[in-house]
Amino acid sequence: MRYYSIAIDGPAGAGKSTIAKQVAQRLAFIYVDTGAMYRAMALYFIRLGISAEEEEKINRCVKDADVSIAYGEDGVQQVYLNGENVSGLIRTEEVGQMTSATSRYAAVREKMVSLQRELAKKASVVMDGRDIGTCVLPGADLKVYMTASSKERAKRRFLELTAKGIPCNIEEIERGIIERDERDMNREIAPLRQAEDAVFLDTSEMGIEEVAGSILELFEQRKKTSVSGQNTEGDFRTCGIPEAGTGRRQA
Ligand code: DC
Repeated sequence: MRYYSIAIDGPAGAGKSTIAKQVAQRLAFIYVDTGAMYRAMALYFIRLGISAEEEEKINRCVKDADVSIAYGEDGVQQVYLNGENVSGLIRTEEVGQMTSATSRYAAVREKMVSLQRELAKKASVVMDGRDIGTCVLPGADLKVYMTASSKERAKRRFLELTAKGIPCNIEEIERGIIERDERDMNREIAPLRQAEDAVFLDTSEMGIEEVAGSILELFEQRKKTSVSGQNTEGDFRTCGIPEAGTGRRQA
């Protein structure tokens, strides 16, 4: 069976998940929100009272956190942490910052990357995150790097929160976004960056339909020429995790 994969990477709030969901739906592929998986893991650390700086403790605990995903009848991804559906608990600013801070550790990334590659072996996927094109699925049929200005991203987040009746401040949101970008782009292991063969899309001035439409078009073109069918190539070295299985980087 030939499975396809589309990798969408980019900073927080660029619209990746909205677009990835739409594209997946239109192609009848599975949408994998990898950020939600890292968030579930971060929630586990928060619950244990571990701080983001305690790398040793985090390395020890990673193996006890069973993170999995499943899809409801509506096709929406649900994230489970040790059997508990935590999808409704992982979207807070606290969890977001903890996720960004703990996703820099090799042990965390190694576990998540393995899970994500397993998913892509069993189905055609649209996967979004920070390192999908550069690390998780280096052989993806289509890679997209999606971004928007921090102002525009803050505005979108502000509107989303306001619509939910959550009081917020747009400058504070923008500061949080810039802080998270900084960390995600400058960490040692699998930092956020555009893969060499990724298509760059600035969504600041584009509507959802337009972005989704261009990705679908690009994919149709790629499909004609794509031959590999192997979307899980590459080992952990592509992710800056030299010694798989240890959760530790070599000196
Ligand atoms: O996409 P998101 O906001 O849910 O992601 C939360 C954090 O998880 C993000 O700040 C960095 C981390 N992350 C990552 O390191 N690698 C991924 N593939 C996805 C998310």
